[in-house]
Amino acid sequence: MSSTERPSWAPESIDLDLPNAARVYDYLLGGAANFEQDRIFAEKVLEAMPEARSAARLNRAFLRRAVRFCVETGIRQFIDVGSGIPTAGNVHEIAQALDPDSRILYVDSEPVAVTHSELILRGNANAEAIRADLTDPESVLGSDAAQRLIDLSQPVAVLMVAVLHFIPDDAQPHRAVARYVEAMAPGSHLVLSHAVRQDSTRADTVNELYERSTNPGIGRPPEEIAAFFTGTTLVPPGLLWTPQWRPETPGGAGDHPETSLVQAGVGHKP
Ligand SMILES: C[S@@+](CC[C@H](N)C(=O)[O-])C[C@H]1O[C@@H](n2cnc3c(N)ncnc32)[C@H](O)[C@@H]1O
Repeated sequence: MSSTERPSWAPESIDLDLPNAARVYDYLLGGAANFEQDRIFAEKVLEAMPEARSAARLNRAFLRRAVRFCVETGIRQFIDVGSGIPTAGNVHEIAQALDPDSRILYVDSEPVAVTHSELILRGNANAEAIRADLTDPESVLGSDAAQRLIDLSQPVAVLMVAVLHFIPDDAQPHRAVARYVEAMAPGSHLVLSHAVRQDSTRADTVNELYERSTNPGIGRPPEEIAAFFTGTTLVPPGLLWTPQWRPETPGGAGDHPETSLVQAGVGHKP
């Protein structure tokens, strides 16, 4: 699709000629809410790092297992920050399948992600999508939608899945995450996954590509990812490659979990 063919769900405010992380990820997952420049960009990423597609799927599978885990521990309210363009196995589908009363607030800074989320949430009184930037926690926690859906005096799951690697250090992502943890009631969970910094020419190529998108990427070393869990206790098995986090079958993590590129964990607030 060229930039002259703007579909009704693509707000005028977005630049269709500039690749965007939400739409590139949607393409990697086999979605249709992406444009030519996103697809060209994603193909270049795949050329440098063919495992990027399976890494996206494995990340998504972690999200599903983590949401189920949270519901099993009694959580019925979710704030999914950097929720992305809806795809198979969205948080409200997983949580509401287990308990229809589960309440979900979706948050994303990308207009296409929010527009699509609003479309699929029509008629769902227990879920809402808002456009906000995660580095401004008050705009999320103090939003009308949060006031309506989320009771911060009760345990909540805050999800930050494959989003923090788009937030550079100067935007102070650790400070922002700490604010969400501070706002969570005891018994809450922080569900987080993050691309691990790779030192290779392949990774340099991917980083250079993302530099030219609307979301420059920044992989971090595991110790910096672990620091996001400050104020929580990592639930077993801890912070590991995505397929290693509570696989559904013995051996489900595969022989090369590091090809998932992303580490993940769930923190419990005591
Ligand atoms: C790779 S997608 C991940 C989607 C979903 N969380 C998942 O893991 O399947 C990253 C999402 O983070 C969003 N994002 C990037 N920077 C953000 C910010 N500062 N605030 C909120 N969302 C952001 C992007 O628009 C994109 O939809």
